[in-house]
Amino acid sequence: MEKIFLDILRPDDWHVHLREGEMLSSVLPFTYENFGSALIMPNLDTPITNISLAETYYNEICKRIPRGAEFTPNMTLYLTNHLSKDEIKKVSNHEYIKAIKMYPKGATTNSDAGISDFKDFYHLFEVMEEKGVILSIHGEVTDEKIDVFERESVFIEKVLKKIIKQFPNLKIVLEHITSADAVKFINEESMVAATITIHHLMVNRNIMLSKGIRPDFYCAPILKTEYDRLALVQAATSGNCKFFLGTDSAPHVEGKKIASCGCAGIFSSPLAIPLLIQLFEEHSSLEKIEPFVSRNGRAFYGLRQHKDRVRYVKRPKSIEVIKDIKSSHGKITVFNPYNEVYWEKED
Ligand code: DOR
Ligand code: ZN
Repeated sequence: MEKIFLDILRPDDWHVHLREGEMLSSVLPFTYENFGSALIMPNLDTPITNISLAETYYNEICKRIPRGAEFTPNMTLYLTNHLSKDEIKKVSNHEYIKAIKMYPKGATTNSDAGISDFKDFYHLFEVMEEKGVILSIHGEVTDEKIDVFERESVFIEKVLKKIIKQFPNLKIVLEHITSADAVKFINEESMVAATITIHHLMVNRNIMLSKGIRPDFYCAPILKTEYDRLALVQAATSGNCKFFLGTDSAPHVEGKKIASCGCAGIFSSPLAIPLLIQLFEEHSSLEKIEPFVSRNGRAFYGLRQHKDRVRYVKRPKSIEVIKDIKSSHGKITVFNPYNEVYWEKED
């Protein structure tokens, strides 16, 4: 039987949580084996709030990357009121710090240092706009009066539109978009792009909640409706340069996911690309996967395109896939909503 291959430029992950210490050692191989580069989020227990901390974290990551792995870590700084205009100017010329991440206070894991009033940061947005530094945004309001499923749409209306009006040339990435409203908004705004995760492309809130609760699908922003999911699939498979892959792979050990107050986060790095290929294939859009996973993100971040290609092969029968990984604090479940997986990377 004839073999079916897919060759694409090496993919990148434009949003990943690698953690630190032992957890970093356990999860990092799944990123450097599957991606050419990744944008690493700064929400550690001690947030990465300045260049010096980012450089130390970068070195910790690089120490764990084997020689010969073709992988570049790109770093982010956590926006707090300790960040100065001078530091932002340095970021604009920095070799590997590529964005400043804004977390609303209380929105997700380690967001206590996040911000309460966006207007307090307008003097920094002004410098970012002038110097071309990218603002990466966790786009949710955290007001308890706002329904959890509306947090993203309300953020776009009440916060993001105001920031854009004030700073029309600020380059923004709205991270891990989840809704049809967000897709529409991104299509209308010229300076704003968006990352999309594989979990928001593959599962919806019914799957998470209607036949028993599925803590492994709990994440922030929370999964939305099937209508929203299909809007995200349409955006990802359109080839539109404003949408690109950011897995938001966010490992938590089982004991912290399946608990009376479980953590938000889905660990998806190991099977991200094979699952995505399967999804794009189901939507007859295989030719659009390369823009989504390899080209669009690099273009938005102003990086040269990769030159080398990676080959994936489709097996005639469903393959045995990794279900979880071990860490010293317990196992971490690997995201996989499919019963059968056919694609894998060819060695
Ligand atoms: O589900 C999530 N988990 N969303 C985020 O934004 C952060 C992440 C984490 O760090 O655990
Ligand atoms: Zn994230």
